[in-house]
Amino acid sequence: MSATGGLREHLEADGILHIVFDQPDRPVNLLDGGVLKRLLGILERVRVENQVQGLLFRSAKPDNFLAGMDIDALSGIDDAYRASEGARFGQTVFQKLADLSIPTACAIQGGCMGGGAELALACDIRLAGEHPATLIGLPEVRIGIIPGFGGTQRLPRLVGFTRAVEMITAGRRLTPGQALRAGLVDEIVPPARLEARAIALLHQAADGKRRPRIGIRGKRAPGTRLLDWAATTVPPVRRRILNEARRKIARRADPTHYPAPFQALDALDASVSMPLPQGLDLEARIIGELIPGDTARNLMWLFRSQAALRKPMREQAARSREIRKAGVIGAGVMGGSIAGLIADQDLPVRLKDIRYDAILTALRTAREGWDRSIRRGRLDPGRRNDRMARIAPTLDNSGFARCDLVVEAVVESLEVKQQVLAELEPLMADHAVFASNTSSIPIGEIAAAATRPDRVVGLHFFNPVHRMPLVEVIAGPDSSPPAVATVRDFALRLGKLPVVVKDSPGFLVNRILMFYLGEAIRLLEEGVRIDAVDSAMTRFGMPLGPFALMDEIGLETVLHVARVLQAAYGKRAEGSTRALESLIVSERRGARGGGGFYRYRRGKRTLPDPEAYNLFEARQARDLPPETIQERLVLAMVNEAAVCLEDGVVERPMDLDIAMVTGTGFPPFRGGLLRYADCIGIAVTVDRLARLADGHGERFRPAGLLREMVTRQRRFYREA
Ligand code: NAI
Repeated sequence: MSATGGLREHLEADGILHIVFDQPDRPVNLLDGGVLKRLLGILERVRVENQVQGLLFRSAKPDNFLAGMDIDALSGIDDAYRASEGARFGQTVFQKLADLSIPTACAIQGGCMGGGAELALACDIRLAGEHPATLIGLPEVRIGIIPGFGGTQRLPRLVGFTRAVEMITAGRRLTPGQALRAGLVDEIVPPARLEARAIALLHQAADGKRRPRIGIRGKRAPGTRLLDWAATTVPPVRRRILNEARRKIARRADPTHYPAPFQALDALDASVSMPLPQGLDLEARIIGELIPGDTARNLMWLFRSQAALRKPMREQAARSREIRKAGVIGAGVMGGSIAGLIADQDLPVRLKDIRYDAILTALRTAREGWDRSIRRGRLDPGRRNDRMARIAPTLDNSGFARCDLVVEAVVESLEVKQQVLAELEPLMADHAVFASNTSSIPIGEIAAAATRPDRVVGLHFFNPVHRMPLVEVIAGPDSSPPAVATVRDFALRLGKLPVVVKDSPGFLVNRILMFYLGEAIRLLEEGVRIDAVDSAMTRFGMPLGPFALMDEIGLETVLHVARVLQAAYGKRAEGSTRALESLIVSERRGARGGGGFYRYRRGKRTLPDPEAYNLFEARQARDLPPETIQERLVLAMVNEAAVCLEDGVVERPMDLDIAMVTGTGFPPFRGGLLRYADCIGIAVTVDRLARLADGHGERFRPAGLLREMVTRQRRFYREA
């Protein structure tokens, strides 16, 4: 047996060569130049030697097969030639695998992504281990590229054209059941029998009893649908499918911002219209164009930074305490969802409210969420029942003494929160932590009601809890480092991305966001149309324009946060809240409260409400170019972001950028606010801010940090 280059091989007496991905120092197995070279060496040897009867790929990790290319290695490539050559090398290795005359199999258990799935596609037999971590897919478009080791050519040959288009352009990952239905795997096998079953099938294939059913040797897969057959043989049908796919992708992504899914369609087209070698060549050329581009670089940077943020901080992790039972107080919109999230992790959770109906609603909502997962094949009814049983509702304070952590999610009132804390603290175990899900009240003020403020921490979730990846972990002035570490690691366990922030009004995300929303309101008061502002910002890449966003958040909440910030940051945050107040007075409270800046029909946003202009006497309508609108709104955020760094609200630019992308939807292809400032140049940013300050007010006066960076010729990030 030998084990170098991330894999080991051993030849069994029955003639089956096992190639085992085994990278013990990494949480997942990855491909890189070294692993591919080693694989190539093995394949060349197998081809010329006669000893091997069949080849089996498997993993030493029970919950990961092969997670694809190492993104650290990809990010280092900055020219098209090297990128294409890298893809060609991987293609050559996998072609050698596909060309072997002996049967080959993959025993897939755990994640099998990107290059991992492309390896599987080059094999004759694919089995999926029946394990919750087993997922197979080509998610490359999510990091701004396309599959580059033959995936765009082999997937349609195996699962059919239409399915491959859908899987690759959406970066979809399939569960074993979905993969079986799609024809991506041949069988689903219980983990204990996976290896033996793969070996048995390899022997059958070697004896000629079982013909490999894969289309990679030039044949089409037998199970693909009529439409797929038409797509491959009738060019106008294929064009229609591609055009429809293009329209579908364009609904969620702009081709100039996110070129990868559109380019993937060209490669997929080639899988049918060209022989395999030409198709592979086109795939490699597209990779060459995409990898050095800004979008791929930013998306890969975000991917790597999020992974870095998810790592337990070593010295903190040592001090954090494992949570075996949690409590939630307040079963409203937030508390109910947080309790569901905790039960998702199979942890017991005590859920308290003072209203019985709130608890019933929370339980019903949690059950509906799990029922949806059952319908999608992601959960079985038994596990749903287990999770339901883990939520123990109560109207009193019983059962909290055994909780290691209690999340408070009652109404946003300092008085109520302090009262809840004061009541609960005497009951809590010595080691237990109290985490408040406040959106705007300083943790220090809440902790003032505690005899042990060291164990009070902020844990700010975003709404909707199950969909928003970000949480802010707020370290109050007295919060102890172990309490902060415990809350942070708990958030990680719930599958969230925790960013630790200093206790200050608006914390991080809402503070920066309010400068953006405030600037939008100023534009409106200057006479710029609501839809002109919103469309300028969606063109910039924001998922919603600021007015549509305010309607979604609810105008009363926006007004509340605006007032908190005005009180805290004085002149810089000063601005008119007249528009918000007049809308609220006229019973317009947002998308779910009688409309807001927009009108709504059956819950859907229609047109801006003309009354919104009349209510606070907006000035004469005036047109501004979208670039001017974008500059004002984005630079307002950039400047405040720099002030936040200066104030030590977060430690690193990376935390801030990830928080803004994952908490507000700041366009991922731009990498984040500070990466955007780096991209346009810090000196240019300062010049533009100074010009805006002269024309529009002190809030644009460039932050000290930015001016200093210009003097020292610094940027926020060393690498682009
Ligand atoms: P909600 O009004 O839906 O729920 C609050 C729940 O607390 C109600 O069910 C109420 O009966 C219960 N409650 C009130 N006093 C209580 C007490 N003394 N003991 C136990 N339960 C009590 O409010 P929501 O939206 O869930 O907000 C909760 C907290 O989360 C607030 O601090 C809010 O600022 C924060 N938050 C809200 C977000 C949102 O978008 N809704 C986003 C982020 C944070």
